[in-house]
Amino acid sequence: MQTINRSSYFIELEEKHGAHNYHPLPVVLESGEGVFVWDVEGKKYYDFLSAYSAVNQGHSHPKIVEALVNQASKLALTSRAFHNSKLGEYEKKITELFGFDKVLPMNSGAEAVETAVKLARKWSYEVKGIPENAAKIIVCENNFHGRTTTIVSFSNDPDASNNYGPFTPGFVKIPYNDLDALEKILESDAKNIAAFLVEPIQGEAGVYVPDAGYLKSASELCKKHNVLFIADEVQTGIARTGKLIACHHENVQPDILILGKALSGGMYPVSAVLANNEIMNVIHPGQHGSTFGGNPLACAVAMAALDVVEEENLSERAEELGQLFRNEIEKIIEKTDLITGVRGKGLLNAILINDTPESSTAWNLCLKLKENGLLAKPTHGNIIRLAPPLVITEEQILHCARIIEETITDFKK
Ligand SMILES: Cc1ncc(COP(=O)(O)O)c(C=O)c1O
Repeated sequence: MQTINRSSYFIELEEKHGAHNYHPLPVVLESGEGVFVWDVEGKKYYDFLSAYSAVNQGHSHPKIVEALVNQASKLALTSRAFHNSKLGEYEKKITELFGFDKVLPMNSGAEAVETAVKLARKWSYEVKGIPENAAKIIVCENNFHGRTTTIVSFSNDPDASNNYGPFTPGFVKIPYNDLDALEKILESDAKNIAAFLVEPIQGEAGVYVPDAGYLKSASELCKKHNVLFIADEVQTGIARTGKLIACHHENVQPDILILGKALSGGMYPVSAVLANNEIMNVIHPGQHGSTFGGNPLACAVAMAALDVVEEENLSERAEELGQLFRNEIEKIIEKTDLITGVRGKGLLNAILINDTPESSTAWNLCLKLKENGLLAKPTHGNIIRLAPPLVITEEQILHCARIIEETITDFKK
């Protein structure tokens, strides 16, 4: 294998032997450190995707690597058939940090969403008193909560759901960022509604930030009607938007909080569902679980990842540098008609490309950004999400703004 052909060698292997369930940018990454990744030809890039906001702490953060290596060489997995010496300490740390009585540990984000759905349904039958199998959960249009059969049952993205039926019933969709719609459904049917499941910012849909006050008012409406407010912060959580969780921008404490991705700094699949005793205590032994959930390796990694968030003030950094980044992009927008807007919070942002969602303009622009040393990917056609690791410095943010500006200036559709 000649060096020059390494990328195409790896891409062809994936093409031939892997399911075609993704459409990656043609770059093959081999190593990473902080905000940077390197491809197999040795080219260096800024990572402006951060594995969909999983790598908030930066690639291969030494503290998280150390925790991983130490714990892996000691004890990785016991299953929950036995106690382990990391789980309790992790549970104490995460519940104290996020302000809940209890946590239920899982692995992927989708599993945590499934867990929250099950927990809300069980609470609604056993505490709220909804008649058997009548519980409904309100969700939002254009949501993204993962890929399991139940979750795609309430997606309105045809790619996510087509030909995966029959679907799980019990979900009612309302428009996102629409308090009237929420109020209307709660007023008419609250006695059968267990929960409202919402992303504080719709990340996958294209970084849609709801109006100020939406989360606060939605959580108050839920409280008034004895309906659980579930925040899916798998993508927005753990400092990404400039607060520990995005709900904190409006001083909202959800009834159920779902975390994943950056809970491990991207080192290992770790997710969590947090709630207070009144809710979490409806689950008893044997009623829910996962072989890997709460394993000592995951717990050690997650504790280190949370330490990094606190020690390196990642929320404050995201808030400050996000503001700077959007300001820089606004300046670029004044000079081009290729981008029509920028939106986001903290370091979860997106630029809107002046073309149709069906066009290949955003994809082609990402190819040019790649050539110029910055990796990002379109979401929903004409939107490019820009979400670097939160350890990025001010100087690097300014450098990246210059890369984006130069790429746009030179870009020909
Ligand atoms: C808001 C949200 N929820 C859930 C998920 C699913 O997480 P996972 O891919 O780890 O299953 C994602 C993934 O992007 C997400 O953005």
